[in-house]
Amino acid sequence: MATLTINGTSHTVDVAPDTPLLWVIREHLQLTGTKFGCGQALCGACTVHLDGNAIRSCQTPVSQATGKRITTIEGLSPEGKHPLQVAWIAEQVPQCGYCQSGQIMQAAALLAKTPHPTDEQIVQAMQGNICRCATYLRIKRAIKRAAQGV
Ligand code: FES
Ligand code: FES
Repeated sequence: MATLTINGTSHTVDVAPDTPLLWVIREHLQLTGTKFGCGQALCGACTVHLDGNAIRSCQTPVSQATGKRITTIEGLSPEGKHPLQVAWIAEQVPQCGYCQSGQIMQAAALLAKTPHPTDEQIVQAMQGNICRCATYLRIKRAIKRAAQGV
């Protein structure tokens, strides 16, 4: 059994302590905005926040998430109005969309700590999030737009 606080709600799930957090998020709670990509912490599709830090939920056992604050893309903003979500739409960032919730969660953790990042800080923070549609330039533009409060 594990009790997890996800998007402000407490959930008790019957899983082994080494179960990846991603499995609980997607399979048990049906929060399917978070994606499974590589399963090896190599692509960033599964990125969520753990106490405000961007982590790869595919490689995070539930035992490490117990007692912490977990936020998924569904919980980032109640109405999808986080500045990054607004900027993402304005810049028309997504193509297939598969990587995008992970990208936004990674970027949200960056802006929470560094509200006005330099280009270099953006590249460094985002380099572990792979987009096979190569939307990287628009991602960067959207992060800068959100940082400027446009
Ligand atoms: S699915 Fe977790 S990093 Fe790729
Ligand atoms: S939008 Fe297709 S993988 Fe990023």
